[in-house]
Order: sequence, then C-alpha cells, then structure tokens
Amino acid sequence: MYQKELEALRKSSRLRERMIYDENLLDLASNDYLGFAHMPKLLDRAYQQVQRSAAHAPKASQLVNGYHPIHREFEAYLCERNGFEAGIVVGSGFLANLSLLEALPRKGDLLILDREYHASGIVGSRLCGAKVCYFEHNDPKDLARILESEHYHRAIVAVEGVYSMEGDLCEREIFEVAEQFGALLVVDEAHSAGVLGEEFLGIFEHYGIIPKANHIKMGTLGKAFGSYGAYILATEEIVTFLQNRAKAIIYATAPSIFDIALAYEGMKYLQEHQKRYRTQRQENFTLCERVLGIKPQSAIVKIEIGESQRVIAMRDILLEWGILVGAIRPPTVKKAIIRLILRLHLDVEVLEGALWRVKEVTDG
Ligand SMILES: Cc1ncc(COP(=O)(O)O)c(C=O)c1O
Repeated sequence: MYQKELEALRKSSRLRERMIYDENLLDLASNDYLGFAHMPKLLDRAYQQVQRSAAHAPKASQLVNGYHPIHREFEAYLCERNGFEAGIVVGSGFLANLSLLEALPRKGDLLILDREYHASGIVGSRLCGAKVCYFEHNDPKDLARILESEHYHRAIVAVEGVYSMEGDLCEREIFEVAEQFGALLVVDEAHSAGVLGEEFLGIFEHYGIIPKANHIKMGTLGKAFGSYGAYILATEEIVTFLQNRAKAIIYATAPSIFDIALAYEGMKYLQEHQKRYRTQRQENFTLCERVLGIKPQSAIVKIEIGESQRVIAMRDILLEWGILVGAIRPPTVKKAIIRLILRLHLDVEVLEGALWRVKEVTDG
C-alpha cells in the first residue's frame, strides 16, 4: 500500500530505521547531556520515592484522580527554582508543545513560530483556532515586522532556548520584541534546561532574564534529566487555562509518577553538583573549539555535510571506530549534518580522542 512512498525514501537515503546500538559505543548522539540516564543512584532514589506511595502509576488523567503528590511537589520545586508562579507536568515534550500551541491561540489571535520550531509545535499550531505564521529563524527584526503589521487580539510567539538541530541560542532581542508588543512568549527549553546558565536552568538564566507574566517556559525531562516527561511553567492564570483547555493534558493519563520522581532526583543532584558540571562544560566547549574549530553555543554541535549519503557513510565509519554520532537528514534539516552532543560527564581525554576521529572523517 505504501511501497512507492517507501521506495522513494529509500532511493533518496531518507528512509528512517530504528536501531539498537551496542551499549559500549561512545555515545555522542543522544540528548543525555549530563549522563543521568546511566546513573544507578538516581534510579534507586526515584524508586524509593515512589515506593512510599500506595500506587506507583497515575491511573487516570490529572483532571480525574491522576494528580499525585510527587507531581505537585515537583511542580512546586520547578516554580521555586525557575521563578515562575505556577507549573503543570505533562506526559512528554511533544504533548507539552501540542498542549500549548493548540490551546493558547484562540480565534482572533496570532500565533508566530520561529521557522525552525520543533515539529511538535507545528502539529499543535495546525489544531489551533488562530491565524498562524512564521518568522525567519532567530530574527527579531522579522518578528517585530510581523507583530507591527498584523491585527490580532493576542499574539503568541514560540521559540526554542537552544535549537535542537543547529545548537544555536534564541536571540536575546526576541524576548525584548515580545515584551515591546505585549506578546506571550513560549520558550521551549528542551535543549537548554540542564545545559545553559550558572545553575543549569536554561536560557532565561543564561541571559539573566527574570520571568514575567508574558513568559511561558516549557522543559522536557527526556534529555538532560535522563527520564521522560515535561513541564510547563507560567502564571497561575495560564496554567489554569491550560488545565481547562489543553486536550493533551485533559484527555491523557497523568505523567508517569516514576519518571517524574526520576527527573526530580536528577535535578536535585545537578543542583548539588553544579560546580563540577560547570567546569566540565567549559572544558568540553574549549576542547571542541580547539579540535574542530567550532565554538559551541550549547552542547549541540552541527557539522554541515550536505548530502544524505555522505552523512550516512561518515556515521558508519565512525561507528566502526566505536563512536556514535547523529546523521541528520532532510526533511529534519535542510542539508544533511553530523550532529554531535558534547555530553558533559564524558572523560575529557576520551572526548578529545573521539573529536579527532570525527574531524578526520568529516574533513576527508
Ligand atoms: C525542541 C524540542 N521540543 C520538544 C521535543 C519533544 O520532547 P519529548 O521528546 O519529551 O516528547 C523535542 C525532542 O524530542 C525537542 O527537541
């Protein structure tokens, strides 16, 4: 039934496959920025936390009786750490973006997304009742132009703290433009929370921006925090609106209690050991610049190659040498890239060896 489409994907080297990789590979592909996915003590602590409850699964939507004390405690912790009034846990980052961009923009509103915004937000935007448009990637002037020229009741702008494929940071000026036009600003911190800032809180902290009523922060737990799930932080009013209007929150089983406990333990661990991770971040970034000649803005490093076939061939050579990297191809990116993650827990000498190997392959 789908043979023609699959053949076309195969011919253009775009056919996606799921692979189970050898656990002994040096992993420079995953979003486990801090190595928390491999830390048994976090697993033990989360298990102990969940064991104290009568039930270990949420059993229902948060709006029925799936809301658990661990969810509430975690939300309070996030609000306190990040300086937001209210928070709500969500099943995944995908569902959080879907919730936000489907529910917040109403008829008469204008939703403006960065052109490179994550696919989950694009899906959400297609379900909302508002007019949807895009501004040029990370371009505050283009955003201001749209906000100035369009008519709308409310404007909602959606950006990422760190863009997931290129690793570039959201421009600070975008926060200023949103403020100037009284727009709500949704910031997806999937790749910036746990990576940027003195205390690893993300892009707000990195820029020294104190959250205001027009700010909404979305964070995921499946990346730096080595778990699964997501959260949204905003004003009490917005969180109350979401829990009354966001279908992916109302009509879904509440987030896994265990996964929330696991991420919570990860965040507390990071808070206690932030100095060590800060040093490692600096060391890894310096190393990347020295070896690859690329000054990283985040833990994501993009090496543009162009052709999908070449990217796959490079990935396969590196695999033979025991190094796993991302080979990202269109339509996820315009031109095929090798995507490296400078995971902060890696031994610097091991990382250096791997980066020289990457250079050898990508230069060749
Ligand atoms: C920027 C961004 N937002 C949202 C998501 C979705 O998050 P999750 O994997 O938790 O569904 C991802 C990645 O998967 C992402 O890279």
